[in-house]
Amino acid sequence: MTSEFDLGALLAERGAERYELHTKYLNPQLPRMLHTIGFDKVYERAEGAHFFDADGNDYLDMLAGFGVMGLGRHHPVVRKALHDVLDLDLADLTRFDCQPLPGLLAERLLTHSPHLDRVFFGNSGTEAVETALKFARYATGRPRVLYCEHAFHGLTTGSLSVNGESGFRDGFAPLLPDTAVALGDLDALARELRKGDVAALIVEPIQGKGVHEAPPGYLRAAQELLRQHKALLIADEVQTGLGRTGDFYAYQHEDGVEPDLVCVAKALSGGYVPVGATLGKDWIFKKVYSSMDRVLVHSASFGANAQAMACGLAVLSVMENEQIVAGVRTTGELLKSRLTELIDTYELLSDVRGRGLMIGIEFGKPSSLKLRGRWAMLQAARKGLFAQMVVVPLLQRHRILTQVSGDHLEVIKLIPPLVFGEADVDRFIEGFAAVMDDAHSGGGLMWDFGKTLIKQAVANR
Ligand SMILES: Cc1ncc(COP(=O)(O)O)c(C=O)c1O
Repeated sequence: MTSEFDLGALLAERGAERYELHTKYLNPQLPRMLHTIGFDKVYERAEGAHFFDADGNDYLDMLAGFGVMGLGRHHPVVRKALHDVLDLDLADLTRFDCQPLPGLLAERLLTHSPHLDRVFFGNSGTEAVETALKFARYATGRPRVLYCEHAFHGLTTGSLSVNGESGFRDGFAPLLPDTAVALGDLDALARELRKGDVAALIVEPIQGKGVHEAPPGYLRAAQELLRQHKALLIADEVQTGLGRTGDFYAYQHEDGVEPDLVCVAKALSGGYVPVGATLGKDWIFKKVYSSMDRVLVHSASFGANAQAMACGLAVLSVMENEQIVAGVRTTGELLKSRLTELIDTYELLSDVRGRGLMIGIEFGKPSSLKLRGRWAMLQAARKGLFAQMVVVPLLQRHRILTQVSGDHLEVIKLIPPLVFGEADVDRFIEGFAAVMDDAHSGGGLMWDFGKTLIKQAVANR
């Protein structure tokens, strides 16, 4: 059968215009930035933890689409579930019936957090956070939400109110009433709670920015304080959830932590259909949805759609059948220990941290005279340039995609797909060591590139 609309033909005809189209119609700074650092590649195909360009070269993905590709790209089980749900011709989104898939996904998701009872499905991480903020405020009757310095919870206005970086917030005020406390500072938390107007503390058990873990014991102690003051604990597991850190949820690393609300998104999508979920206690949901009049008081037109639910169910099934969480622990420990061994070899490498397959590599001031001058020059121009100097050759010369973990940070964050294997670890270590050898030689292309970055940083001031 011929079709009026042929996606393959459209891509074959106009796919090559991708960068110009983006420059003309979308955020123009993205192609500009990609051209500047030489990341303006054309990837044709992807599978698991790898992309391929038109010449068949393979690239190792250490970014997983900012974490959405938990199971890697095009996992056959998830892909089949998506095909199946389309072929079933379901009467989805009638909105005045109860579909089976949302209930089944909620049931399955809740088995991983048995102290929670109900789920709200939205369409993204930020929406899962917005839901948690609204539910916490309504359930407690209080306005203020506490969050941690450097936190990232999404970029819609409510989530932005609990963002710990001025770079994201500036110019968008006024936001919701909120207050930042340092991750790990229980005194500051107690001080704020005593004011009596706090609905909740929202926290990433491992912060995405800089890959900072909540200090041991902090989450449990914070939970105690919150309970004493009748405020709620919200765990934002949008990035850390679904196995990323070697536990199903990162808060489970520590016994006795039972958040009142948990936000998930990213990897639950299988990399195919956007989804967000806010898990919570029965009493919170019963309070928000307290009468038939309030049935739609919080809802989303696309929430719980069949495609998203099918992908979510397939993802959770694969996670169990392929023992993904156990695999993450093994591969994550291997990656972290191989990187940690390099600290003694490279004076510019100062720390390796994180859990599971969420690893931060921090660079710091070198000890030798030879490198100190160069490092100081970069730092004076802009903090974070050295990490950028590592990320660029990793892609250019070794075809490994990584990211700097936030502005003005000398930290690279590794969040590869969870199906990342031992051979991938070898490949990363080899590429990373080659880049670090180059950096420590003190000359060569890499520091020339550093000079280019300095010029740009100075020009952008
Ligand atoms: C911890 C955390 N929360 C929320 C979000 C926002 O998710 P989304 O981009 O799907 O809105 C992110 C995204 O990176 C995140 O890392």
